[in-house]
Amino acid sequence: MIYLDNAATSWPKPDAVCEAVSEAIQRGGNPGRSRSSKARAAADEISEARQALAELFHIADPARIVFGLNATDALNLAIQGMVRPGDHVITSRMEHNAVTRPLAYLEDAGVTVTKVATDPIKGADPDEVRKAFRPETKLAVFTHGSNVTGTLNPIEEIGRICRENGVPFLVDASQTAGALPIDVEKMHIDLLAFPGHKSLLGPTGTGALYVAESVSLRPIRSGGTGVFSEVRLQPEQLPYYYEAGTPNTVGIAGLRAGAQFILERSVSGIYHEEQQTLQRLIDGLTAISGVTVYGPLQGPRAAAVSFNIDGLDCADAAMILETSYDISVRSGLQCAPDTHRMLGTFDLGGTVRVSPGLFTTDEEIDAFLTAIREIAEEA
Ligand code: ALA
Repeated sequence: MIYLDNAATSWPKPDAVCEAVSEAIQRGGNPGRSRSSKARAAADEISEARQALAELFHIADPARIVFGLNATDALNLAIQGMVRPGDHVITSRMEHNAVTRPLAYLEDAGVTVTKVATDPIKGADPDEVRKAFRPETKLAVFTHGSNVTGTLNPIEEIGRICRENGVPFLVDASQTAGALPIDVEKMHIDLLAFPGHKSLLGPTGTGALYVAESVSLRPIRSGGTGVFSEVRLQPEQLPYYYEAGTPNTVGIAGLRAGAQFILERSVSGIYHEEQQTLQRLIDGLTAISGVTVYGPLQGPRAAAVSFNIDGLDCADAAMILETSYDISVRSGLQCAPDTHRMLGTFDLGGTVRVSPGLFTTDEEIDAFLTAIREIAEEA
């Protein structure tokens, strides 16, 4: 199989990740819940995971990284924990439903949302972001990279504008964490939501939210923390304030190994390698007659490329790739209807999305391009 659906979840995982998961489930232990060697080993593993992630994103205090189920879970905590009825939120027109749906629920409860003008190639317009602030603006939330087109939002510039306006800046790094350099200090990021199972190479069911000290975020869950049990409400120390119940120790062990694997290879090294693969893919696709590629055709991007083939439904194209060529991609709206409205592909039912990963070879890209050439000729 040629796996080109890494934007959904990365595959394969490094051996070290599979081994860490296997060792953790065989060892057992519930971190912070007893003094047994198993519980202590589990707690150490989770602490190492926080440290590796803090190093990756230049986070000074690893305890400010809060584990959850996935990026969606982290985004829900950030959005629901920050915003109340009567508040105003600024966002882009190329967000995933993990952002637009929590915001839609809040809109129904009396929150106002401004979706600023967003360009399929350049992302959200910083001038429009600047104009969108109001006295009641409580949060700005922007994806770092589109899961449909790989378009990057100008995160550092938007972060600076948010800082100037004193509004917390939440970044959805679902498609970039582990693949593109992220520095929360330099980019003025107050809240960073990311999945463990995409470019961080960990297992599904893992994700986290970084919460800057300056941010006042309410917890949205409460329960056991293993420590400070005498306190009536959730203890305000991090990470306990936002982590209730037994964590996904096995998954976080795998995420620890994935993050350490990336640190060894270096994000900048991975980034340069992946950009070359992506350019080879885009140059090949744009050269095929009858193929329309959406989003940026040059320059830095996240690893998601969307296209359509004239005369062929995107779902049919993906099915032919799967059944006749054993190539895995994703078609449809990719949980990002706003992005397709922006691209003009909503009424087409979306696009075919191809997303290479760290282990994708040039030979696999060339085999994919040959398949698309043949499918386009017959369409
Ligand atoms: N959000 C993931 C995707 O875009 C699952 O496929």
